[in-house]
Amino acid sequence: MDKAQILVASNRGPVTFSVADDGSLGFRRGGGGLVSGLSAVADSGAVDSLWVCAALSDADRKAAAAAPDGRLDQAGYGLDGSGVRMLDIPAATFDNAYTRVANSTLWFVHHMLYDTPNKPVFDADFRAQWADYRAYNAAFTEALMTGAAQSARVAVQDYHLALVPRMIRGRRPDLRIAHFSHTPWAPPEYFRMLPSDIGRELLEGMLGADHLGFLSRRWADAFLRCCEAFLHNEVNWDSRTVEFGGRIIRVGVHGLGADAEGLRERAAADDVAERRESLRASVGDRRLIVRVDRTELSKNIVRGLAAYRELLTTRPEWRGNVTHLAFAYPSRGDVPEYRAYTESVRTLAEEINREFGTADWTPLILAVNDDYPRSLAAYQLADVLLVNPIRDGMNLVAKEGPVLSAEGCALVLSTEAGAADDLGRDAILINPFDVSETAEALHRALSMDPAERAARCGRMAEAAASLPPELWFTDQLRSLG
Ligand code: G6P
Repeated sequence: MDKAQILVASNRGPVTFSVADDGSLGFRRGGGGLVSGLSAVADSGAVDSLWVCAALSDADRKAAAAAPDGRLDQAGYGLDGSGVRMLDIPAATFDNAYTRVANSTLWFVHHMLYDTPNKPVFDADFRAQWADYRAYNAAFTEALMTGAAQSARVAVQDYHLALVPRMIRGRRPDLRIAHFSHTPWAPPEYFRMLPSDIGRELLEGMLGADHLGFLSRRWADAFLRCCEAFLHNEVNWDSRTVEFGGRIIRVGVHGLGADAEGLRERAAADDVAERRESLRASVGDRRLIVRVDRTELSKNIVRGLAAYRELLTTRPEWRGNVTHLAFAYPSRGDVPEYRAYTESVRTLAEEINREFGTADWTPLILAVNDDYPRSLAAYQLADVLLVNPIRDGMNLVAKEGPVLSAEGCALVLSTEAGAADDLGRDAILINPFDVSETAEALHRALSMDPAERAARCGRMAEAAASLPPELWFTDQLRSLG
């Protein structure tokens, strides 16, 4: 097997397997910036590439075990032109690394989600989980080193794999390593909550890379400030570099937009048209406020619904004339806070419908399930798109919605999303904690003159399309020379 010259490592890979009733394996290719980015590079056929990810289900493990050399592409499950290797990490190790450390701790720190009187608690249990986080990072490191050609470029993704760059550096100094954070980065005042040895290990783990990438300058700045505060490393703010272990590490900002062409093509399919018709049939000609998220604490769905309730209370003229579609993909059900949050979203939605609903008007349609074509149909129909996260690395809904909008939607957008950097001029910006401001912004958005709305939406769609995922990904690779 040829060694790869370009490698990607991420917890969630580009394909997902499922077992049908007759025992046969089915697979679905994922979406997202990385998939289209690496596909574009691999498609050119100029270099060998390999994607290392974790097996996330029994079906994934079955597929990985059946693949020759562990490479799924050899079994016909490839990502266009690229090899895929799924790691079968022992269940207990995976649970501690992914659910406990990555999703219940690091995600919470970077999104500042803790309810601090109760959490976090860093005790002996946490330290055992941390040991598994290390083991999980070591398993990725091993697979990358085995698969990498001399001087290959390795693009490590996200908070799950913060230790990988340093682990590789220690054993394969020939490799050129980038690490990319898809999340915000916590400011030092919040990051300091982590035990100091663990905080240092995370920062030093990432500084094993040659290049560190972030989605917004704000997150890159926060990382540099953490290096100053906790490692006492030399940070050069002019060149935006950190000196560590006798090397200079560059910290860059790589914005990410929408795959406008791919989205438009997908949205032209029959299943999207069917969803569009059925949505139209159920809401009639009422105005539409749309939100699409994972059922995710940082997405701030509860305050968003509360703002909708306040809109209906303070602006009674909208009663009966608007419908709020809230579509939420189930996510991270293994984390208790996520299950409780999803319940609170459902409860508030029921309350709103009880309070304002009439025989012929359902004010809020909440659906917690996985229906991608329905989300695309909702983007096409939206008069207003509500994106109000507490904190968000970028938020692609804010970029995809305007691209697909048929008549031009208004965007109500949190200042705390990375997307506000690119769309802030044409969106209506809100403080995500301020429910009243959000309610007022929804009113402004619904009342906006259609020509102005279309013009703003057009500019946002253009901004979103100007940063296609291919560019974002090749930019990461270019930063490695
Ligand atoms: C965020 C993270 C990704 C992650 C995704 C979905 O966007 O930055 O790394 O894959 O959420 O979360 P999940 O835990 O389902 O992979």
